[in-house]
Amino acid sequence: NVEKDEESFQRYRERISTLPKEKGWKIFWYLYAYGLEGVMFAQEHFKARPLDVFLWSTPKSGTTWLKAIIFAIMKRTCYTNSTHPILTNNPHEIVPILEEELFGEPPVANVESLPSPRLFATHISYISLPMSVLSSGCRIVYICRNPKDVLVSMWYFVANLRDEAELFSLQEAFDLFSQGKSAFGPYWDHVLGAGLECPERVFFITYEEMKGDTLVHVKRLAKFLGKPFSLEEESKGVAEEIVEMCSFESLSNLEVNKNGSSKTGLKNSVYFREGKVGGWRNHLTTQMIESLDRVTKEKLPSIF
Ligand code: A3P
Repeated sequence: NVEKDEESFQRYRERISTLPKEKGWKIFWYLYAYGLEGVMFAQEHFKARPLDVFLWSTPKSGTTWLKAIIFAIMKRTCYTNSTHPILTNNPHEIVPILEEELFGEPPVANVESLPSPRLFATHISYISLPMSVLSSGCRIVYICRNPKDVLVSMWYFVANLRDEAELFSLQEAFDLFSQGKSAFGPYWDHVLGAGLECPERVFFITYEEMKGDTLVHVKRLAKFLGKPFSLEEESKGVAEEIVEMCSFESLSNLEVNKNGSSKTGLKNSVYFREGKVGGWRNHLTTQMIESLDRVTKEKLPSIF
């Protein structure tokens, strides 16, 4: 209940107003508008349950895609192909981001009353995650992506949020990203937190692996989520149907994702740009590539 928590939000706003500020990605206005209070509120109040499923990611790593896939796996017996909510809703409406939509201002739903298994997504980094997410034993899926593609994808995404006059260069975006000034903290620390701090608890997958063999990983994911495909489903090609329904081509061509908008007025199409691996080759300079590769090799040697 937002009314009841106005006092908390006031407290968060006061704390936020004391934080250092500097020019950054325009996305920060968007996050600070209702994201940071949401993170603080989630930290204080959210109680994860063992049956919850969490999709955890850095922004621009494939969150939209995995939201659709996880929902489709978990709810596959609830809908027929023609009535499936994925066909008429943007994945972000179906699987809410904890800190932005459920504990944001105003929240879109009462977290306590959502039916189990509750499906959530979060971008909060390991050190700021609500304690109960890791202690509850709930299922956690973490997706990350090559930082060079994350940077380019984020740059385009932010360009969509900014007014044209305010566009900033890829060099500026690179500088911020390299200095760890990204939404939800430094990219590399985010991935390290999920990959190294709690490997046994997390289904850890890269965007590149998902693109490489989506079907294999959808089946692995279904097993991890406690919903393996039965022999009958295997023979009917249910996993294949999920892969197809959630593919970039299918999702990006749905009317809701081409022309629809979120409640906050963001166009759904901003979540679908190219959906490819390695697009960074067409954007980054040699110096940018070497610099990002150096940090990645040092911090995440076994992942990329
Ligand atoms: P690009 O900007 O490189 O195209 P997020 O959902 O975490 O915000 O990530 C957005 C990125 O995922 C965008 O990358 C977007 O195009 C891509 N994407 C969205 N839906 C996808 C899908 N179904 N399959 C593959 N990639 C997808």
